[in-house]
Amino acid sequence: MLNEIVLHAAADAANQADILACEDLHTSGAYGKRPMAIVAAEGARLIDAEGKEYIDMVGGHGVCLLGHRHTAILEAITQQYERIVTCPEIFYNDQRARLYQSLQAHLAPRFGRYFLCNSGAEAVEAAFKLSRALTQRAGIVAMQGCFHGRTLGALSATWRPKYREPFGPLVPGFEHIPFNDLEAAQAAVNDSTAAVIVELIQGEGGINPVEDEFLHGLRSLCSERGALLIFDEIQTGLGRTGRWFCYEHHEVIPDLICLGKGIAGGLPMGALAWRSDLGTFPQHTHGSTFGGNPLVCAAANATLQVLEAESLPERAAEIGERFLDTLRSIEHPLIRQVRGRGLMIGIELRRRATPVLQAMAENGVLALPAGTTVVRLLPPLSIPEQDLERVRTTFLDALEEVYGD
Ligand SMILES: Cc1ncc(COP(=O)(O)O)c(C=O)c1O
Repeated sequence: MLNEIVLHAAADAANQADILACEDLHTSGAYGKRPMAIVAAEGARLIDAEGKEYIDMVGGHGVCLLGHRHTAILEAITQQYERIVTCPEIFYNDQRARLYQSLQAHLAPRFGRYFLCNSGAEAVEAAFKLSRALTQRAGIVAMQGCFHGRTLGALSATWRPKYREPFGPLVPGFEHIPFNDLEAAQAAVNDSTAAVIVELIQGEGGINPVEDEFLHGLRSLCSERGALLIFDEIQTGLGRTGRWFCYEHHEVIPDLICLGKGIAGGLPMGALAWRSDLGTFPQHTHGSTFGGNPLVCAAANATLQVLEAESLPERAAEIGERFLDTLRSIEHPLIRQVRGRGLMIGIELRRRATPVLQAMAENGVLALPAGTTVVRLLPPLSIPEQDLERVRTTFLDALEEVYGD
């Protein structure tokens, strides 16, 4: 299953205990870390420094859409490195121009302007700055339970107090309303609102889907009151939910859309797209040293090509549906609800998720929490179906092992 390069990487890596000790000594402290050093990967598998193999349901926090080490990305970045890596946006570049066209081919026709950056949070920052500049208003309305990133602007929109409290004062002008509550939105959105931002499935918040009626209502409300509607599709976009963009399920089109995660096949990239008729950033008011660099644009072009050539959004819809059905058919007193769409799945437990995740890891499956009680599954869209079957049985065994009387 794993090729020689991957096996050599595992063999060459330093002793796992040494790696852990070194990171513990020097790490920022910001992360809750798991006691394993992941040193190589292939497809939907990760391998640690002791050569142990895991099924990857973390997918680099939803980044790994195509599977690890896809040859198309390897070829694209190797070829691009031989030509040029660094080319700031003050110059034009062929890969960047191609990326605009590729994004254009998949997004709704009303989109046509893009700001390229290096992470999801930067795409969110750009969305807020552009909304304020275009509307000459300051207010941003976000949803309770949402996650939009950790830079100060994005953090001001992010809900969870644990993430916000150590870093105040945050940016003024932000307000949170209950998710899926149209009356609350009607009360909050007014003539000082620059934008409303919403995730179509709250990822970090627990895999909570937006309601169709709420989304349609929000669209009308924003249009009526001159506020811009931002969809944060950083986690839901690019095939994850079984369509190219999650908004296609709802047939509601925003004014701005934030993208990130897997857009460049695992290399760091964020992107903001917006309606062409809205206008642009005033010149010299925004920018990024690395934003839109040719290496990452080449990786993004290859990623979009693979998503299309391998029909990965369609595959996510098909196998995601079957996987969700098998999970929903489990009758277990500790499972409260199974939620999700495509290959963005949450299993809400009646107990804490972390011990179950630990037991799953011991048995070769890595997954994420969302909040305290949800097991979150974000596998590569190319994952073999037999791996999903193993994930299901490993999850059930872990549940039994941890909480069985
Ligand atoms: C919906 C959403 N928005 C924004 C972000 C922030 O992205 P990044 O971590 O790349 O800054 C994330 C990351 O998990 C996310 O899921």
